[in-house]
Amino acid sequence: MAIIVSFGLQKGGVGKTTTTGITAFFLAKANRVLAVDLDGQGNLTRMLSGQNKNAFKSTIYEAIKHRNTENCITVLSENLHLLPANDDISRISSLLDQHTDRRLQVLADVLDSARSSYDYILLDLPPALSEQTLIGLTASDYTVTMLQTEPFAYYALEDYLETCQVVQKKYNPNLKLAGILSVLLNSRASLDQSILEKVRADYEDIVFESVIKRKSRIKELAITGVVDKTKADQQALKEYSDFVEELVKRVQKN
Ligand SMILES: Nc1ncnc2c1ncn2[C@@H]1O[C@H](COP(=O)(O)OP(=O)(O)O)[C@@H](O)[C@H]1O
Ligand SMILES: [Mg+2]
Repeated sequence: MAIIVSFGLQKGGVGKTTTTGITAFFLAKANRVLAVDLDGQGNLTRMLSGQNKNAFKSTIYEAIKHRNTENCITVLSENLHLLPANDDISRISSLLDQHTDRRLQVLADVLDSARSSYDYILLDLPPALSEQTLIGLTASDYTVTMLQTEPFAYYALEDYLETCQVVQKKYNPNLKLAGILSVLLNSRASLDQSILEKVRADYEDIVFESVIKRKSRIKELAITGVVDKTKADQQALKEYSDFVEELVKRVQKN
């Protein structure tokens, strides 16, 4: 039975998609993984498949429309499957009964049939506290939140954690915070360091020990796809492989 983990924060450009994609890549080395794109920008779809989001006719939108993932999943490799997204996702509201909060269960219900085929289902959430994010959190067993080490992202973190608490109380009592991942750290900038220290003081061991540094090679992965064949790639991805180890320990403990 798959463990469902989402990656979120309502701010764009904080590394959610990059983290979801790289985590899917590492987990798929030894597990069956379904990566689900919940952002109409289709960045995860592009990163993992190398194809434009408009190349996909069957996406998360159709999966929700038919209440079934069948025929909507793209097989990228034996262990790594993708449920892609494109702009259609902005129309999912029209598929749901807006008169009841039960509508937020829709992704949880849709993924239920896929759970037995995977070890991990990873959800890349959009950069807003929108209905799509609420649907994603309602389907999650765990959520990882990003902390980009800059002031606006720090403020966004509090709002995200509050939203998680509301979802946990009202819609999904199983939702747990896997942790806060610090990303895009510029290790030479003292402001980045002091934000990291403040978050560690405030949130203690909720913060993952692994810290993802800003590296140009990681940025390139959005174009090349995730690869770790060369020593240089392995070095660039080292902090991510440490993070994935930490994540696996945290989500399997319970
Ligand atoms: N560790 C990193 N080092 C350098 N660039 C990164 C890193 N992580 C992400 N990026 C780049 O930052 C931008 C935003 O990342 P992305 O994962 O798309 O964020 P989000 O999904 O939160 O909007 C992208 O161009 C991505 O390639
Ligand atoms: Mg994104």
